Amino acid sequence: MSESSPSRVRFRCDRVYHGGDYNPDQWPEAVWDEDVRLMRQAGVSIATLPVFGWQALNPAEGVFAFEWLDRVIERLDAAGIDLCLATATAAQPAWVDQKYPDVLVADEHGRVRPHGNRHTFCPSSPNYRRLSADLVRAIATRYGRHPRLKLWHINNEYGGSWPNYCYCPRCAEAFRGWLRERHGSIGELNRHWNTAFWGHAYDDFAQVEPPYAHGEGSIMGLRIDWRRFHSEALLDCYLNEAKILREITPKVPITTNLMGAFFPLDYRRWAPHLDVVSWDNYPMWDDPAATTAFKHALMRGLHDGEPFLLLEQSPSHQNWAPSCRLKRPGELRQMSYQAMAQGADSVMYFQWRQSRGCIEKYHGSILEHHGRPDARVFREVSALGAELASLGTATLGGRVPARAAVLFDWESWWALSASSGPRRDLDYLTEVLPYYAALFESGIQTDVIGWDADFDRYDVIVAPWTTMVTAAQAARIGARVRAGASFVATHFTSRVDENDYMHEGGAPGPLREVLGVTVEEYDALPTGATNGVRFEADGAEASVSFLCERLWLHGANPLARYTADFYAGEPAITANHHGLGDAYYLATKLEPAALAAFLRRVCAAHGIASPLADGAPPPEGVEVSVRRADGAAPLLYLINHAAAERQVALPAGARRDLLTHSVFDGSATLAPRGVLILQPFASQS
Ligand code: GLA
Repeated sequence: MSESSPSRVRFRCDRVYHGGDYNPDQWPEAVWDEDVRLMRQAGVSIATLPVFGWQALNPAEGVFAFEWLDRVIERLDAAGIDLCLATATAAQPAWVDQKYPDVLVADEHGRVRPHGNRHTFCPSSPNYRRLSADLVRAIATRYGRHPRLKLWHINNEYGGSWPNYCYCPRCAEAFRGWLRERHGSIGELNRHWNTAFWGHAYDDFAQVEPPYAHGEGSIMGLRIDWRRFHSEALLDCYLNEAKILREITPKVPITTNLMGAFFPLDYRRWAPHLDVVSWDNYPMWDDPAATTAFKHALMRGLHDGEPFLLLEQSPSHQNWAPSCRLKRPGELRQMSYQAMAQGADSVMYFQWRQSRGCIEKYHGSILEHHGRPDARVFREVSALGAELASLGTATLGGRVPARAAVLFDWESWWALSASSGPRRDLDYLTEVLPYYAALFESGIQTDVIGWDADFDRYDVIVAPWTTMVTAAQAARIGARVRAGASFVATHFTSRVDENDYMHEGGAPGPLREVLGVTVEEYDALPTGATNGVRFEADGAEASVSFLCERLWLHGANPLARYTADFYAGEPAITANHHGLGDAYYLATKLEPAALAAFLRRVCAAHGIASPLADGAPPPEGVEVSVRRADGAAPLLYLINHAAAERQVALPAGARRDLLTHSVFDGSATLAPRGVLILQPFASQS
């Protein structure tokens, strides 16, 4: 379906963009002057609009009303505020649904949903494609040459509302066509999906139905292909708009706001079609810093480490969270610098002025219902805006010089979620996070990559729970290990091929040779139950849980053995020297401290450690990240996520903080929520 991506338009910030969603169409014109006056006060340098403006811009078919937006843009322009212009296609107006019912999405029971909400368009609807294209063409024609236009923002958070995908007959038919292309013949589809199981073989593509909630639930290949199809179908909607923008404004970069580790869409397949990656960061208040850093790194990895845009975050409440907890004083600043430490070149919010009504009226905004700039949130946003402006271009364009990577694979996520077993509480993302966290907490600079990444850039590649591995992917890993890298695989890696068909000869399938092990059987431990492992080298013991596999070794050496149960004494962690490199297999889930120590040892063998003094891990709760732009000195970000002061031992050499201009040599003290952006001092003299 998706066409090949055009070459990307370069996007570079000329300052740390500060601003966010502005919805003037939801407010009377009487407040617009005040909006812009206060935006200047808050240091807003970019506004994203009008994300939900379809109805106001295009109140009837063929009728466009741009005058109001002209007046908003005139005001923003006069105030020196740049534009991230939205194509406004995420929520179609009532007239569209009334006139063209094929636009309406059908839920997972196949029921057509009545008009309302957002993201409720059917991706296969010709009328949606046509009418959204009309709107995009009109917007691009009207504003495409505006000097303030810096970025196109297509749609909004694709797939972001239930039912995520559309189960209408048109999508079902498009899916059948997609299957024909992917599998070639119904015989091949039957083979790939193993439909002989329960006698489910199809005679014809016409017999294949989407995996309705009340329908076929036993064919995993069907469920996974349905996700692939839909990820592509929504990407096609994006491309339908991007094509028009590229025709009319070939030099203006294009983005759409992604959502981090978002299950329904394979963002690695989307990324080549975005000129710049942007995403919306809404962590839960108690999310560990490592979890948010992981999502930033995942987004950064979509464009091989290029800077991304933080397009949305809430300045205070998230009304859809279990409780609308306020961000504490300093918390917004802390999370904004965390985004920058991990690769963001902007700090943007949802939204400027708080909604007066409807579902988001209790969502945080820069300007709250009382409209007062002397409010805490407004003052904090303004102070941050001034501070970011003072940084000028100093932080822009840097890449994180990571030589360690965690592999994250949407298709393995889909495969594991579709799978019955090995345990009901299995969640791929939850299982991947501890591996990233172990590296993050060790201060080791780590990218999050996919199968399409350039493996040569990494000396350590950790692939937790990558259950779906093809022969070609395994061959690339093998080549990288033979060339000297370390590869760490875990239990349940490489069980199935791209169709969720078990590899012949047992797991880890095509990685058996590289890893030097074959899995004999797995034991999923009841929740709360543990086993243990003892390391051969030093006798250290650690607790393990969740899943224990029993292995046959053919080349690999045991590094640690189980300490309990009938498999006590059998290998639990192995290393296989393969070519110039090493392939490690973790047959079980190590407790966090032991996992961190293990990964630090693997990294140390390549000279990879934290950038702090002696390569030591940072104190608990301190995030350490490095960004380096071409031709510039590296910036060392230190962020204290702990509730208490932290003392950090710095690497040799004097360093100056870009925020306070204080100079540090030897060590630095960070207050709770404290941030330092340290630049080698000598480079300035
Ligand atoms: C998303 C959307 C915004 C808004 C916020 C609220 O990020 O893009 O339109 O709904 O959520 O958190």
